[in-house]
Amino acid sequence: MTQTSRIPGFYNQDLEKRRELAAQAAALTREDLLPYLTGGLSPEQAGHMVENAIGTHALPLGLGLNFVVNGREVLVPMAIEEPSVIAGASFMAKLARAGGGFQATASEPNMIGQIQILNLADIYAARLAIYEHKAELLSAVDEIDPLLKKLGGGARDLEVRIFEASPIGPFLVVHLIYDVRDAMGANAINTACERLAPRLEQITGGRVHLRILSNLADQRLARARCTIPLNELAFEEYSGEQVRDGIIAAWAFAAADPYRAATHNKGIMNGVDAVVIATGNDWRAIEAGAHAYAARSGRYTSLSTWGKDAAGNLVGTLEMPMAVGIVGGATKVHPAAQAAIKLMGIQTAAELAEIIVSVGLAQNLAALRALATEGIQRGHMSLHARQVAIAAGARGEQIEKLAAQLVAEKTVRIDRAEEILRQWNQGHND
Ligand code: MEV
Repeated sequence: MTQTSRIPGFYNQDLEKRRELAAQAAALTREDLLPYLTGGLSPEQAGHMVENAIGTHALPLGLGLNFVVNGREVLVPMAIEEPSVIAGASFMAKLARAGGGFQATASEPNMIGQIQILNLADIYAARLAIYEHKAELLSAVDEIDPLLKKLGGGARDLEVRIFEASPIGPFLVVHLIYDVRDAMGANAINTACERLAPRLEQITGGRVHLRILSNLADQRLARARCTIPLNELAFEEYSGEQVRDGIIAAWAFAAADPYRAATHNKGIMNGVDAVVIATGNDWRAIEAGAHAYAARSGRYTSLSTWGKDAAGNLVGTLEMPMAVGIVGGATKVHPAAQAAIKLMGIQTAAELAEIIVSVGLAQNLAALRALATEGIQRGHMSLHARQVAIAAGARGEQIEKLAAQLVAEKTVRIDRAEEILRQWNQGHND
């Protein structure tokens, strides 16, 4: 079990030392984290995962520090190419920790499968005929996967939706609600939809067309809440009240305007996707679900809310679909995904969903706090400067030195970085 997610000075250590400290904090061995040394996936394993594989594609993997989710310390693996994201999440988790960390819940892991039925003489009668056979249809689904049933999953419900008007005229859509437990569930639900199709054709006299899950997984939600004590928000010339009210006004912008909401939610997804990817889950499914859920009222809006409690502390919430699993697919075969699950010490997909939604909320706070005060560029620039320095050819100690100079000159550009490096190297050769 993770002793602590708070590792002061982590940032200043080299990678080897960081792995050692992380293993210590999470009560793991260094071997448990070895997949992170190699990217985790051999080209041969990659060849078994996708077609036409010629190799692998790596991303940086960092740790979100300071997270406490439902009273449990957790080190969060985050795979992402964008600078500032991991630092932002870790910093906000530190502020949230002073208010008790994140309280998170996950609903039952109910996925939705869709079966489209065309060519119906009478869509209303066909709809009712399906309901008459509901018990039979649900038990047919339960026969597909006895293990899932034993684990407490299985078919939960059938709903029949009528589309009276569409570009091809009326049709029916059956929703199968399927509890997939610790799986992401795409395979289970798609199999179940395909299995039900012939019987639905018999019952309705129509023709089944599509049989596929819906990524708008609005029956599989994760929710997180945090309270940031007012005094934790104050910094430099900004008072706690100023920062709090600035964050609330920034959120109001996203709540009111889809143009802003898209960017606001993108900031949330910076954190969400990083953990989704680190655990081998399908981030396109999570993205699709998030944005569709954000538009569920008919108007695209913020996935999070920000306000203040009776004592004046900042309070944030985030609710979104979270179809992630810890069994099956890449979550099982990717060694780095396995290391991620070990590192977080989780046993269920629900626990993973709770951590991910907490990271999303922390990430949202990091962006809003920066935007509402000093702006996003200051923090971004120093990290961006390091990438520019590396791209210009800086190595070892030169990287930090060159990055610092670029920031001091307020010119974080590759041409300037190369020029400085040339001057340094000339000096060296003289
Ligand atoms: C950048 O990757 C994410 C932000 O644009 C999010 C936001 O504006 O809230 C900073």
